[in-house]
Amino acid sequence: MQRLIPVLNSDHVPLHLISVINTLLTAAKEISHRLHQGSLAGTLGSTLDANIQGEVQKKLDVVSNQLIKNMLLETGLVHAVASEEEDDVVMGNPDAKYLVAYDPLDGSSNIDINGAVGTIFTILEKPDHPAEGTELFLQTGDEQLAAGYILYGPSTLLVMTTGRGVRVFTLDHTVGEFLLTVDKITIPQDTQEFGINMSNQRFWLPPMQQYIADLLAGSTGPRKKDFNMRWNAAMVSDVHRILTRSGIFSYPMDYKDPKKPCKLRLLYEAMPMSFLMEQAGGRSSTGYERIMSIQPTHIHQRVSVIMGSRNEVDTCLGYFKQHPCTRPDSI
Ligand code: F6P
Repeated sequence: MQRLIPVLNSDHVPLHLISVINTLLTAAKEISHRLHQGSLAGTLGSTLDANIQGEVQKKLDVVSNQLIKNMLLETGLVHAVASEEEDDVVMGNPDAKYLVAYDPLDGSSNIDINGAVGTIFTILEKPDHPAEGTELFLQTGDEQLAAGYILYGPSTLLVMTTGRGVRVFTLDHTVGEFLLTVDKITIPQDTQEFGINMSNQRFWLPPMQQYIADLLAGSTGPRKKDFNMRWNAAMVSDVHRILTRSGIFSYPMDYKDPKKPCKLRLLYEAMPMSFLMEQAGGRSSTGYERIMSIQPTHIHQRVSVIMGSRNEVDTCLGYFKQHPCTRPDSI
């Protein structure tokens, strides 16, 4: 089985970019180790703090963020990092060109129940025009150089793309290396599985309400086939299921809280996952626009997400065309 670095070399990924990716993975191996230790490492549970999003920080959120941030900045190859757990951009080497945005531990409510969690990352380049701090990261998904996630489940997996398809590497704990286990992921275009937090149903926009109602009606409804539902409450593992065996995943915008119509973050959740989806032949949209084309306005910006098997996402988007409604982000 091939190791990560020769695979990236054969794709002509620049050496410094390979070093940045490899450094992220060194941090991920340490996170994987601490997750495996669980209560024995004394890192389960919450801190007394909240992050910029107002969410309670788990101890492992904080530890993972520090590990990734410090290791990346120590390479001297990173100009700046943006993290879910940092209010602002953290600057590194002024002469370096890489920018890394990451969610250190996605789905962290799963930590204390020994469920799957993950690290999501995207790597960009310093823009050509003069930019500082936050402005550096205000680039569309199409400008990503590399993106992916590390899924800490029964196995620790790296799923990533540099724009030449999606590969899966599995961490071999005996040698401490990520080894290539799937060379090219292609998402089936059709599916009978969906993932959405059904408890928000009454707050969804009319097109989403109607789309899910038709899935639930199954073989007796207009779709004329039964659908199954899966929800892990960790985007990394819900997206991984789609990349592995098809599906549609959504955290759509809703009318629940007018101040927060969307939940998932564009820069370090939706954008990298959309890059993977498209590279694997899937589709990714807000319901109204392609996520990869969105021009971000803030590093912690939130966005509506509908992604997965191409034909199923297209079907869902058809409902948005057929049922025009007031967007909660315009109220
Ligand atoms: O980043 C937020 C996140 O944990 C995602 O990984 C996941 O898809 C979602 O929130 C789960 O949200 P909820 O708790 O509403 O099911």
